[in-house]
Amino acid sequence: MTIRTKLAVGVNVVLMAAMAALGWSVIAVQGSYKREDLARAASVIENSVRRVALDTLLQRDDLQLVSYVNFLKGQYPALTYARFHWQTGQRSHDVDIGDLTRAGVVREKPLQVSDPTDPTHLVQVRLGIDEAAIEREVDASQQRLERIILEVWALASLAGLLLSFLLARGWTRPLARLGAMAETIGRGQLGGRLEWNSHDEIGVLVGAFNGMSTRLEELEDAKKQFVSSVSHELRSPLGAIASFIHLVEEQLRSSLDPKAPQSLSYLERVEGNIRRLESFISDILDAAKIERGKLECVLKPVGLQDVAADVAGFFGPRAAEQGVTLSSAMPPDLPRIDGDAERLRQVFVNLVSNSLKFTPKGGRIWISAEQFREGGRRWVEVAVRDNGRGMESQDLDRLFKLFSQGRNVSERVVGSKGTGLGLYICRSIIKQHGGQMGVTSTPGKGTAVSFTLRLAEAPPAAA
Ligand SMILES: Nc1ncnc2c1ncn2[C@@H]1O[C@H](COP(=O)(O)OP(=O)(O)OP(=O)(O)O)[C@@H](O)[C@H]1O
Ligand SMILES: [Mg+2]
Repeated sequence: MTIRTKLAVGVNVVLMAAMAALGWSVIAVQGSYKREDLARAASVIENSVRRVALDTLLQRDDLQLVSYVNFLKGQYPALTYARFHWQTGQRSHDVDIGDLTRAGVVREKPLQVSDPTDPTHLVQVRLGIDEAAIEREVDASQQRLERIILEVWALASLAGLLLSFLLARGWTRPLARLGAMAETIGRGQLGGRLEWNSHDEIGVLVGAFNGMSTRLEELEDAKKQFVSSVSHELRSPLGAIASFIHLVEEQLRSSLDPKAPQSLSYLERVEGNIRRLESFISDILDAAKIERGKLECVLKPVGLQDVAADVAGFFGPRAAEQGVTLSSAMPPDLPRIDGDAERLRQVFVNLVSNSLKFTPKGGRIWISAEQFREGGRRWVEVAVRDNGRGMESQDLDRLFKLFSQGRNVSERVVGSKGTGLGLYICRSIIKQHGGQMGVTSTPGKGTAVSFTLRLAEAPPAAA
């Protein structure tokens, strides 16, 4: 669950619970007040009936009492009926109003009021008060209140949900954008900035993040600059050392000194190490060019089988020494491709040297090519395969990253450990050609690295 959802749901649940508790308390308090009101009204009725009864006795106006109680009955539905009995000496008369069928069912409140100037003149009133009606009235008023509170609660919850969602979105949006930016930086695209104009904690966080991103970009630039300057500076003295060693070797070859052959073998080892160092430096410079987007391939029609045959020939003696069969089985009629011969040679060199590193004695390395059509164009898929040690499937995804190697490096048959730059450079070269590169491998069975290249368009036939 995202922070935004958690925040929105959390705020809303608290809001709804608080409003429900408030509503429930209002209903409970209102019920008890209503009950008290009704009880007070009952005693007010009793007192006012007594007072009016006394007035009517003094004024000898019985009907006034009846009409007053009738009026009260209209105001106060719990007053179900009233029975009047007047007594003046030996004479008496009765009047009943209301629903007398309820007599005996509802509570009856008897009152007696007599004329203070003539105690034989009196009136007895029995008021039928329906207590169930009081309860019903309380219930009805509570239900009305409940309905109103429920409606208000639903409306407020909806508004609260909307508001909390908007608020949560406002707060978490910069976090989501920071997350996306961090991912971009993690993929190696440094220097991204986020525009966020607020002076709160989020503004401070975004500011710090932007500062970090800029600093990372500066450091990365400084690192690239440093690596490329150091590599350049190393290349020239190395070239000079190699030429001087070559000169000394020439002299030693024509020397009669008995120690000359041994010195020559030492110098050949030094030369081998210089070649490794030169190839490493040139890989570093290529990687730096790729990083800066400066690796350029000049595409011209190239006979790929010639390039492959040249590389197979170059590695032939080494393969034979290792007891490995190296062959190029490119179809001789393969049309030319659009490519940079030098760069493609570099690709073949790395792929074949990789295969040699992992193919033990008796193994086989072979280069093949197959044509296919895609997107209205003709392509060729080239593969360098071996039946060597292979590698784990978990390693396949990262082999094309800078300085990435498989866990099988310690299982190599010959050669130096390498630096993990080869496949990174190869894939970039193939991408520059508009093609793709991939690898399949099975531990103990072998590896196939393949890439695609566009065939050169055939020149229009002469008219
Ligand atoms: N044919 C192969 N058989 C087994 N593993 C291979 C093969 N080709 C490549 N790999 C694995 O892929 C890794 C990366 O190869 P890559 O060519 O990029 O670097 P490297 O050969 O180790 O060093 P570099 O090419 O820079 O000298 C190798 O270290 C190895 O683990
Ligand atoms: Mg390599």
